[in-house]
Amino acid sequence: METNLKPHNTFGIQAQCKGIIRLYSEQDIFEFLLRQDSQYLVLGGGSNVLFRSDYDGFILKNEIKGIEIIDEDEKALLVKVGAGEIWHSLVMWSVGHNLWGLENLALIPGSVGAAPIQNIGAYGVEQNKCFHSLNAIDLEQGTTRTFYNEECNFGYRDSIFKQAEKGKFLITHVCYLLSKIPNPVLSYGDVASEVGSSTDRSEVIAEAVIRIRKNKLPNPAEIGNSGSFFKNPIISKEEFEPLQALYPGIAFYAAGAQVKLAAAWLIDQCGFKGIVDGNTGTYKKQALVIVNHGAATGKEIFAFAQKIQQAVKDRFGVVLEMEVNVV
Ligand code: EPU
Repeated sequence: METNLKPHNTFGIQAQCKGIIRLYSEQDIFEFLLRQDSQYLVLGGGSNVLFRSDYDGFILKNEIKGIEIIDEDEKALLVKVGAGEIWHSLVMWSVGHNLWGLENLALIPGSVGAAPIQNIGAYGVEQNKCFHSLNAIDLEQGTTRTFYNEECNFGYRDSIFKQAEKGKFLITHVCYLLSKIPNPVLSYGDVASEVGSSTDRSEVIAEAVIRIRKNKLPNPAEIGNSGSFFKNPIISKEEFEPLQALYPGIAFYAAGAQVKLAAAWLIDQCGFKGIVDGNTGTYKKQALVIVNHGAATGKEIFAFAQKIQQAVKDRFGVVLEMEVNVV
């Protein structure tokens, strides 16, 4: 049985597990649950995980595929997607049908099943905007359950599946409600300037996002990485004001009654942008992205990430939380 995790994490970390089990249907999952006697971890595209060491258990690879239209009217369409589909393929399918909702999320690595877990987002849109529901298997009870949008407690890179229900469910399908009526989100400066004037084709936005991402972010096929390594920290206005007085150039976004700081800016200011530290470092164009220069171990990357956290804490008094799941 395959045990090498290197092809299964976009960081390209060399690690071993007891075996990789591919699940193609709900039936496969139930059969696995009946006979399993070892710990296991469900992996989507492996684009948001850092293996610090070998994993003493099985890796379950969700391979449930399919994009199926289950309902539609003149305004919208409800689509049910296998959790093992590649996220970007779903986005391209949706824009190919000129449907609206997912176009700003083009080229995000990972699988459809992982998208709701960390409520992926980019360029002014998060997946919960058109998330309808998901089907999951309760791994303890061996039963199926549907979660509707309101039940998932979606937040910034957050959901119930990272909090109270962490590790308890295996997502099999996700349903998205996509609009047939043009609704371009051009709030993000780069996207607006790349698109030019507004458009009635969602594909135009997806293509703009693809160009922006390709220009800014490293391609994991060429250089191992996991996208943004940390979350953008959210702090109170009371904490923010003295920081802004000290650092007038500080990059931030409004976050309701609070303020979201650009972690990339904080890291950059600490002198980490583009640096090489042994086999690891940060990307030359985006300080928030930690990269594997080829032979990095998970331990090495983790230690480097801690070094960044410490520097940002010392300089700004701000705690950076890892976005990546450390195993
Ligand atoms: N900046 C720097 N130095 C850098 C890079 C950026 O100072 O090296 C400053 C700039 O002022 C820039 C600001 O930081 O305006 C924000 O940078 P950017 O627009 O690249 O966005 P981000 O906040 O770093 C977030 C998401 C990305 C998402 C982009 C676009 C998080 C943790 N990251 O990055 O998501 O693509 O916005 O919406 O929220 C991911 O989650 O893996 C990811 C790539």
